[in-house]
Amino acid sequence: MLILGFESSCDETGVALVAADHGERPRLLAHALHSQVAMHEAYGGVVPELASRDHIRRALPLTRQVLAGAGRALADVDVVAYTRGPGLAGALLVGSAVACALAAALDRPVLGIHHLEGHLLSPFLSVDPPQFPFVALLVSGGHTQLMRVDGVGDYELLGETIDDAAGEAFDKSAKLLGLGYPGGPALARLAEFGDPTAYALPRPLLHRDTLDFSFAGLKTAVRTQILKLGEGVCEQPRADLAAATQAAIVEVLVKKSLAALRATGLQRLVVAGGVGANRSLRSQLDAACAKRGVRVHYPEVSLCTDNGAMIALAAAMRLQAGRATARRDHAFDVQPRWPLAALDVGVP
Ligand code: KG4
Ligand code: ZN
Repeated sequence: MLILGFESSCDETGVALVAADHGERPRLLAHALHSQVAMHEAYGGVVPELASRDHIRRALPLTRQVLAGAGRALADVDVVAYTRGPGLAGALLVGSAVACALAAALDRPVLGIHHLEGHLLSPFLSVDPPQFPFVALLVSGGHTQLMRVDGVGDYELLGETIDDAAGEAFDKSAKLLGLGYPGGPALARLAEFGDPTAYALPRPLLHRDTLDFSFAGLKTAVRTQILKLGEGVCEQPRADLAAATQAAIVEVLVKKSLAALRATGLQRLVVAGGVGANRSLRSQLDAACAKRGVRVHYPEVSLCTDNGAMIALAAAMRLQAGRATARRDHAFDVQPRWPLAALDVGVP
């Protein structure tokens, strides 16, 4: 079975082809990605209308690139998958429209996929795939969640952010530090030159008996420090503040992940979503988990941020597990707000 997957929920257009043979782990044959970062940079964030228009321009050229890379033709595709939500409504509509139109023309069924499920399952494409059950730390620009994962479609929310997501905390702090968009990778680079102990920044809910997160106070603290430093801050205090910000976010993510492992009694952790590319987070999680005999799994670094491979993979795993049926109605169907806990609600 060959699955063509489209991701268009935000500012990356991703297309991928995954092969899922009976009883075998799905394999990524080819994927292609276009990031809109350069286009949105001038505005300091994603402009939804520009995002939608660019997805339209990129979807088919990327599809051709993927098929050529895999040495396959459109007619070889058995199922077309797309990101059904959550995300920007217009951007999602482009991906679903392209997927449904292609599937209708090919007389193939379509399957809408939850973006976070894509992130959650993405480590199954890595050289060291996890086994169920595991605790998943999902850390992206829009979400920060700890889940218990017992199988495909079998997800229990353990805790989540009550305000900003971890990626948002990185991005907003980076903006205050005068770094570009998206700020996470830029802040991480600057942090390498800084002293993480130079500033004491808050770690809300860290010692509370909850697996929820709160990051909104962090950007306020960063803003206060920047105001104290005044205009024309030189490089070292900025690097120190970046390092202290990263340390605060990473410490909370590591401690809450360990608490979730303790609470569930599980010995396996999966980290997914854009912030999962952060090197400091990876090294601290690796060290803390190694001490406790916990195995940690990550997606390949190139598949941490949004991509089409995770969407085609999630479709493959859902179909293999009998947790979804691809549809032939080719109805444009998106769900911009879609909690992962409500994954199967309303899905035929
Ligand atoms: O998963 P993703 O690509 O998109 C969403 O679904 O939101 O995550 C994007 C987020 C952004 O907030 C970005 O700043 C953050 O991931 N990010 C990072 C790093 N790479 C991406 N944050 C910290 N360190 C990084 N290396
Ligand atoms: Zn994402």
